[in-house]
Amino acid sequence: MIVVIDFGSQYNQLIARRVREQKVYCQIEPPDIDIERLKSLHPEGIILSGGPASIYEEDSPRATPEIFDLGVPVLGICYGMQFMVDALGGTVSGAEKREYGFARLQIRKEDALLAGVGQGTQCWMSHGDSITGLPQGFEVTATTENTPMAAAGDPARGFYGLQFHPEVEHTPKGKQMLKNFLFSVCGCRGEWTMKAFAEEAISEIRNSVGDKQVILGLSGGVDSSVTAMLIHQAIGNQLTCIFVDNGLLRQNEGVRLKKIFTQHLRMNIDYVDAADRFIDALQGVTDPEEKRKIIGKIFMDVFEAEAQKIKNADFLAQGTLYPDIIESQSAFGGPTSIIKSHHNVGGLPEKMKLKLIEPLKFLFKDEVRELGETLELPDELVWRQPFPGPGLSIRVIGEITAKRLEVLRRADAILLEEIRESGYYRKLWQSFAVLLPIKSVGVMGDKRTYENILAIRAVTSVDAMTADWAKLPHDLLGKISNRIINEVDGVNRVVYDISSKPPSTIEWE
Ligand code: XMP
Repeated sequence: MIVVIDFGSQYNQLIARRVREQKVYCQIEPPDIDIERLKSLHPEGIILSGGPASIYEEDSPRATPEIFDLGVPVLGICYGMQFMVDALGGTVSGAEKREYGFARLQIRKEDALLAGVGQGTQCWMSHGDSITGLPQGFEVTATTENTPMAAAGDPARGFYGLQFHPEVEHTPKGKQMLKNFLFSVCGCRGEWTMKAFAEEAISEIRNSVGDKQVILGLSGGVDSSVTAMLIHQAIGNQLTCIFVDNGLLRQNEGVRLKKIFTQHLRMNIDYVDAADRFIDALQGVTDPEEKRKIIGKIFMDVFEAEAQKIKNADFLAQGTLYPDIIESQSAFGGPTSIIKSHHNVGGLPEKMKLKLIEPLKFLFKDEVRELGETLELPDELVWRQPFPGPGLSIRVIGEITAKRLEVLRRADAILLEEIRESGYYRKLWQSFAVLLPIKSVGVMGDKRTYENILAIRAVTSVDAMTADWAKLPHDLLGKISNRIINEVDGVNRVVYDISSKPPSTIEWE
């Protein structure tokens, strides 16, 4: 295993991901980790992450210099390299200005870290201070135009430093460098699997929960489902999942999810049918943000009332993923992370004095799906497309009525059926129908119609930050359109949304 010491860089979780991609287990620890604890982890190597601080600042984060006496290789990245150089007797000087952006790497000496990297490769720089003197035993191995000590190493002790970020996509050969560190320098074997991650996480949950109760807001999405599965395997019925049916779900979704979780997975599910409360409160509301506010507030009220009923509940579990915390990351990571304000249960833990359990917080979506498969979560849940908390309310554009919701639900069900049938479901990030608040003229049989327009949205994406409209085959689009117009009363025209994000968004509201 590899320990990443987290000096607060926005990229530190990415380092962990890159290591895990090589099938080497990796754990992130704070800079003040106790040396005895570090030893007990038996790392094959240590990576010192980058960070926003300057080594000169009085309260800049530091790890104990004893980490350099453990006899294990150390790779310092950016601030991590500067910390290492400073701790081992080299010098770091304040730079006049920050170096930020691309640079070309000139290799002066191909050591174990830089093997196979090649001359002139691009690397991503983002640092203020610069190294001006190396500790004894170190040698410069690469330079860039502005950074005479872009890479350095002391192979005898297994210490290496990179002034740039090998973990980001902007450093295309970064993966090679990390691989070199893991396999050539540290001697890792690359045999770690998601099964091992699950076992670790389960035992950690067991230890921290003890005999207390855990509650979890279950939406049926892959994140909350995998979290539930993991915690259920750890503590069984000490977990209660609260599922709030807000009446804004897709066709048959609530019933179907309830059945899978209670009958198939045998979990303790508190299913709350609060549809009327939500729908009533949304009467006459057309503004999307207003819709979100109303839904968020009622959700909190309903969830809190249910949670109060569970005695001895000390913990709240959330399926927070790494991309959820990436922008709201606290300075030095650590076990507590800031909850995004738009999160459905944001605010609850403080209000109810619950401790948070976030077992997926270092994982990306594709890793969560892999974990779900490892835990034998049904495919239907593992491969579920993301669905927004406010549900269909933001897909009935304008005012929401029971009738309009029903029209959308039926059209959406047909769309999904065809998308699944065609084999596109897993290839798309999301695919759904949107009911527009305008009518158009049509002709059915011999009769003139004046009915709703329905839009189809299908996008590809890796993280929802950007998205492209999906190039679905025309005959598939034709079939969906035909079926919807013929089978759903109230729709006489179907259009396909061909906008990408940005400048559009995935949802219409
Ligand atoms: P946009 O529309 O901003 O959506 O491109 C990005 C992703 O977020 C989902 N989404 C939401 N999820 N509450 C949620 O839980 C919301 O209010 C919300 N709005 C959008 C959207 O479905 C897409 O996956």
